[in-house]
Amino acid sequence: MSDKEIKKNKVFLETYGCQMNEYDSELVRAILKKENYEFIADEREADIVMLNTCAIREHAHRKIYGRVHQIRHDRMGKPVMIGLLGCMVTNLRQELLEDHSLKIDFIAGPDSYKRLPDLIREASSDGTKGYDVTLSEFETYSDIYPTREDRGNPSTRPSGSLRVNAWIAVMRGCNNFCTFCVVPYTRGRERSRDPQNIIDEVRRLASEGFKQVTLLGQNVNSYRYETHDFAYLMEEVSKVKGIERIRFTSPHPKDFPDRFLDVMANNSKICKQIHLPLQAGNNRVLEMMDRTYTQEEFLGLVEKMRSRIPGLVLSTDIIVGFPTETEEEFEDTLKVISQVQFDSAFTFKYSERKGTIASKKYPDDVTDAQKTERIMRLNELQKGITYKKNKAHIGQTHTILIEPAISDKPSHNSVGRTDGNKLVLLSQNGYRMGEMVKVKVTDATPHALKGHPLNLSFHPSSC
Ligand code: 5AD
Ligand code: SF4
Repeated sequence: MSDKEIKKNKVFLETYGCQMNEYDSELVRAILKKENYEFIADEREADIVMLNTCAIREHAHRKIYGRVHQIRHDRMGKPVMIGLLGCMVTNLRQELLEDHSLKIDFIAGPDSYKRLPDLIREASSDGTKGYDVTLSEFETYSDIYPTREDRGNPSTRPSGSLRVNAWIAVMRGCNNFCTFCVVPYTRGRERSRDPQNIIDEVRRLASEGFKQVTLLGQNVNSYRYETHDFAYLMEEVSKVKGIERIRFTSPHPKDFPDRFLDVMANNSKICKQIHLPLQAGNNRVLEMMDRTYTQEEFLGLVEKMRSRIPGLVLSTDIIVGFPTETEEEFEDTLKVISQVQFDSAFTFKYSERKGTIASKKYPDDVTDAQKTERIMRLNELQKGITYKKNKAHIGQTHTILIEPAISDKPSHNSVGRTDGNKLVLLSQNGYRMGEMVKVKVTDATPHALKGHPLNLSFHPSSC
């Protein structure tokens, strides 16, 4: 019997990359569950293994190739269909289908998930490879209610516990074409969902017990639906009863009108936290990246944000070793990092992506050794800042939202997050997920805060 002849309905789905991919996997679950596919946790039992891939850096690609070979090897000849989804397949379709050592059965790009049942059928019926990587100007999946995974561990969770955070994509795609970035090519043009449709979904989430929603988009603050902008959307979402906290990611610095900052400042449900990607601190590099702001403009924006939103927690993304970046230019990035004092930073070595503007215009001439040296210096600097920022919270009081514990052990203490998204490890356990607990910060590490509950009987329904 060949791979293609058996009935395949048990699916193992693995997700790589960003939160948008996590969300897309939830969409895929909903789409396939309707067609009687079953999702299972043990890949050895699966008829179909799907990998939802990421394309943002070369490293992500290599991981997928290795993973596919490992799956085939582990099955030791036992039949399994392998499907690839997500960003990597949009620009590598040909390569993936023609690489016979990989033996990929079907591939679906980020706008083709509704076609997955057909693609799997095509691939399993006549042996042709099912693929669809068409990018749409309209697809927002607004008619699909994602099957959100309960990431808590059922065996250790106290009964009656709640699910906590739900991702919800409010827009897809990106029109910015930062020269290093492959996303506009893998995910296509920007399109936003009808706000009413988003609010309906948030209401349903609240009725299911979710306490926090995180609005997602590749360029989330450029959300626009007819005359409605992102500030409007955030305000409307905040009116939904039962939702205690609203976050968003990832924004672009160019789309922060004053009105939006005022909405953030004055609305108690909108968390005072912004992920503000800087990418580089030098003006020549920023221009080559086509980020549309200068170092001075970025610093001005940070100042404005902080003056309007007291206690704001800021994080960022940095790329080191962009083509032709000199040592002095890299030092400008260090300077900005020192000046802004971000609470945390995600740092990356520049990775040339096929098809991007940078790959066509600029040679990837900063050596890997230089990139490594720069990222280590940057990380060292940021680590000190993060630790200092965390230590400044000692003695402060925060309300934290309890999350699934980090470990499955029943003895493991409860954990939660502050409004600013800082992880707090509690000195006690037994709190329910979704509970809001007032804590005093007693200690800090470079990665988290430690806290002691102030009011042991504190409960969301009694406050
Ligand atoms: N090389 C390295 N980092 C990249 N990012 C995006 N494209 C690249 C690339 N080609 C980083 C940016 C972005 C984050 C999600 O990934 O910092 O903000
Ligand atoms: Fe990529 Fe720039 Fe769009 Fe972000 S804003 S997804 S970095 S092109």
